[in-house]
Amino acid sequence: MKKLPIHQYLPGASELVYGCMGLGGNWNQDSLSKADIKKAHQVVEHVLEANINVFDHADIYQFGKAEQVFGTILKDNPTLRDEMIIQSKCGIRFEDNSGPKRYDLSAQWITESTDQILTRLNTQYLDVLILHRPDPLMQADEIARALSALKASGKVKYFGLSNMNSSQASYIAQAIDQPFIINQLELSLSNLHWLEEGVYVGNPQGSHINFNSHTLEYARINNMQIQSWGSLSQGLFCGRDVSGESITIQETAKYVKTLAQQYATSTEAIVLAWLMHHPANIQPVIGSTNIERISACTKALSINLTREQWYQIYTLARGSELP
Ligand SMILES: NC(=O)c1ccc[n+]([C@@H]2O[C@H](COP(=O)([O-])OP(=O)(O)OC[C@H]3O[C@@H](n4cnc5c(N)ncnc54)[C@H](OP(=O)(O)O)[C@@H]3O)[C@@H](O)[C@H]2O)c1
Repeated sequence: MKKLPIHQYLPGASELVYGCMGLGGNWNQDSLSKADIKKAHQVVEHVLEANINVFDHADIYQFGKAEQVFGTILKDNPTLRDEMIIQSKCGIRFEDNSGPKRYDLSAQWITESTDQILTRLNTQYLDVLILHRPDPLMQADEIARALSALKASGKVKYFGLSNMNSSQASYIAQAIDQPFIINQLELSLSNLHWLEEGVYVGNPQGSHINFNSHTLEYARINNMQIQSWGSLSQGLFCGRDVSGESITIQETAKYVKTLAQQYATSTEAIVLAWLMHHPANIQPVIGSTNIERISACTKALSINLTREQWYQIYTLARGSELP
């Protein structure tokens, strides 16, 4: 098994993370239905059988219903909690009576949101609490105060970040007496800025790139686990109908399919193996609620692409030869 940085803190963590954003019905204020509960039970059972034991949540997913439905699973099967590594996120607030959609990494909201997460999930503790997005009004000392109290109370074991560049990560980290063990970022074949940033150094053609330099390196140097969201690009390269998409997407999907046939594996496995081939030890967060697709994803663990295949996928997905 690959040695992930997260293992240092959470031994036995799986190489894939199951993203729970799709559980709990839809993004509306309807109550959980019996069908939502049944579906979530089936999916989580399958995920555990597939040896994925890290579950990714956020307080906002399906307006809290993703955590709520997961909580019904833990209520019915309390012993499952010990088999799971559960992470959740706080810091995004939707429009409400108090104001517009906003980010909130104030001590008060971090504390309040964590209590709500624990109640919805039906658990005494989170393995990892992740700060979902950088809040322009965030103050490192205030965040540090909130996180220290959560750690001391036993409500949270470890902390992580999401969508933060290296400057934001180091600004918060310098105030805190414990490590941030995760940075969860959008990294995929359809969003290549995380690689383009590195290959376009000093090249004016790279002026459009929106990925802060040193973000991956900061995580690697500081032993943070990089987790990728959007890893499956909503199926764009692994089976979705792409007849109406660009030639670049069609050609990439075609090559992914060829490789899947060559390795006698699934297209999902090739897409994820491509991400996992990167030496930063990326831990993909997969968001499918389709049981066959979840199984197809787990096949990535046995695929070792060659350097040439990795570059061929990258070149096709970027749509032109490297500079
Ligand atoms: N930190 C953040 O800011 C952030 C943001 C977004 C998400 N996340 C986390 O990352 C997880 C995954 O994110 P994601 O859902 O955006 O990305 P994803 O894993 O790339 O995509 C999953 C979605 O793509 C669909 N899909 C996959 N393959 C398909 C195919 N061949 N044909 C048709 N549909 C296909 C899935 O549908 P099926 O269910 O039908 O398979 C599912 O709706 C989330 O659950 C969440 O935990 C984090």
